[in-house]
Amino acid sequence: MRLKDKIAVITGAGAGIGRAAACLFAREGAKVVCADLNEETTRSVVAEIFAAGDEAHFVHTNAADSDSVAALVAETAHRYGRVDVFYANAGIVPGGTVTECSEDEWDRAMAINARSVFLACKHVIPVMQAGGGGSIVCTSSVAGLVGVKNRAVYSASKMAVIGLVKSVALDYIQDGIRINAICPGTVDTPSLQGRLHAMGDYETALAQFIARQPMGRIGKADEIAALALYLASDESGYMTGTYLVIDGGLSL
Ligand SMILES: NC(=O)c1ccc[n+]([C@@H]2O[C@H](COP(=O)([O-])OP(=O)(O)OC[C@H]3O[C@@H](n4cnc5c(N)ncnc54)[C@H](O)[C@@H]3O)[C@@H](O)[C@H]2O)c1
Repeated sequence: MRLKDKIAVITGAGAGIGRAAACLFAREGAKVVCADLNEETTRSVVAEIFAAGDEAHFVHTNAADSDSVAALVAETAHRYGRVDVFYANAGIVPGGTVTECSEDEWDRAMAINARSVFLACKHVIPVMQAGGGGSIVCTSSVAGLVGVKNRAVYSASKMAVIGLVKSVALDYIQDGIRINAICPGTVDTPSLQGRLHAMGDYETALAQFIARQPMGRIGKADEIAALALYLASDESGYMTGTYLVIDGGLSL
């Protein structure tokens, strides 16, 4: 087992990529703290993990709120004694150009996508230092590397994640703390399904998304979770401050 007896926190664990990662990390031996705003969906993830004979725990969390993230880390440390892995995954995908987006939409996207990573690091690093190290994994996006039409605010928030990852890596490298980002392309999750339905004609919208994919298909949440597992585990022990693109060739 690749995360045997590790304590792993995952934000946005109630759906999509976070849900897939929670189930996979638990199968690989981790005790998984599932943090999310949505209690109903996330409790169902915890129940699924228990039904498989593994261990998980739900903590209601707003990943964009400092007190909430501090409480998440404190509860995890109190319950399990340490935190080995923090997967800062929660995020939203606002659309639109800068003239279409409001200042409130900018603030919300920066809070949920970028401040959340800052807060994860801020609160978990002292606990990881006390425990002798750890691995922080963040979900950025290919939009965090290249410009994307109608995704200006999203792209800015995900590029901020890459900047944090690089600098935080250097600041805590001597503490045995690693931090890396994942840059997925288009992945089939409730978030993507919501965007497809919002475009009106679902089948046409789906066909348009697939037509943009060099591989001729959209990514699966399980495929992103497999990469998160690698970065969370000791197998990636020589990697820090970097990002891995997993996009079926979309950004080439
Ligand atoms: N799906 C894609 O195509 C895609 C591509 C690239 C990057 N990403 C990124 O992957 C991550 C996960 O995306 P997904 O598609 O699985 O999303 P999703 O919407 O399917 O699931 C996200 C989960 O995060 C939770 N969440 C939202 N805001 C939160 C907050 N403030 N605090 C705690 N939990 C919160 C939601 O309740 C939900 O359970 C996001 O950071 C997203 O930007 C997704």
